[in-house]
Amino acid sequence: MNIVLMGPPGAGKGTQAVRIAETYGIPHISTGDIFRAAVKAGTALGAELQRYMSQGQLVPDDITIRIVHERLQQPDCAAGFLLDGFPRTIEQAVALDKTLESNPIDVVLSIEVPDEELIRRLTGRRVCQGCGATYHVDFNPPKTEGICDKCGKELQQRADDTIATVRNRLEVYNRQTEPLISYYREQGKLVSIDGSQAIDKVFQDIACHLEARQ
Ligand code: AP5
Ligand code: MG
Ligand code: ZN
Repeated sequence: MNIVLMGPPGAGKGTQAVRIAETYGIPHISTGDIFRAAVKAGTALGAELQRYMSQGQLVPDDITIRIVHERLQQPDCAAGFLLDGFPRTIEQAVALDKTLESNPIDVVLSIEVPDEELIRRLTGRRVCQGCGATYHVDFNPPKTEGICDKCGKELQQRADDTIATVRNRLEVYNRQTEPLISYYREQGKLVSIDGSQAIDKVFQDIACHLEARQ
C-alpha cells in the first residue's frame, strides 16, 4: 500500500509512521528526517536546507521533489511505502502523482490536532541523538530523564522546536499545506484521523482504516 501521512507539525506523524512501517513492513520516508541527515552531514546542500528549516519555512519544491523522486525509485518502495511530511504543497502533490503514474497513492491519512495541543507537544518533544526515537517530557517520557530507553544515548530538543519557529511552522502549514486536504478529498483518498487521542488509540484508528482497505 502507498500511504501519505499528513498533519500539522507535532500532530504525531513521525510517532505513528514508525508503528505503521513496522506493522505493515513498508519503508518510512520522512522528508524532514532526510533533510536533517543532510544538515548533520555538513554538505553544501545541508547548509542551504538549514536556512529554511531553522526559520520554519518550507524547503523549495524543486529540491524536495527531486529528493523524493529519487528515493521512490529504490527497490524497497516497489511493494509500498509511507510518506511522512511529503507532499506539503499542491505543486509537490501534482509532481508526486506524475512520479507514481500507474502505481498511485492509495490513502492519505490526515492527523488532526488543535493548535494549543501542538505547541505543547513540540516544546516538550525530545529526540534521541543515537537512534532518532522520539519522546515527550510529559506524554511519552523515557524511563530515565534525558536518556533513550532503546539505545542509552542522550535526548535533545530539535533545533526548530522553539516557540517562535513553531508558530511559523504552524502558519506555513495552514497557508501552504492545508489546501492539500481538499486536493486529496476530491481524489477520494482522504481519511481524517483524530490525533488528539492517546498515541495507542490513534494507531488503533489508523490500523482499522488500513485493514478495511486491504
Ligand atoms: P518535519 O520534520 O516533517 O516536521 P513537521 O512537519 O513540523 O512535523 P514534526 O516532525 O515536528 O511533527 P510530527 O507530526 O512528526 O510529530 P511527532 O510524532 O514527532 O519537517 C521539518 C522541516 O523540514 C519543515 O519545517 C521544512 O522546513 C522541511 N520540510 C520537510 N518536509 C518538507 C516538504 N515536503 N517540503 C518542504 N519542506 C519540507 O510528535 C510530536 C511530539 O508529540 C513528540 O514529543 C511525541 O512524543 C508527542 N506525541 C505524538 N503523538 C502524541 C499523542 N497522540 N499524544 C500525546 N503526545 C503525542
Ligand atoms: Mg516528524
Ligand atoms: Zn536511541
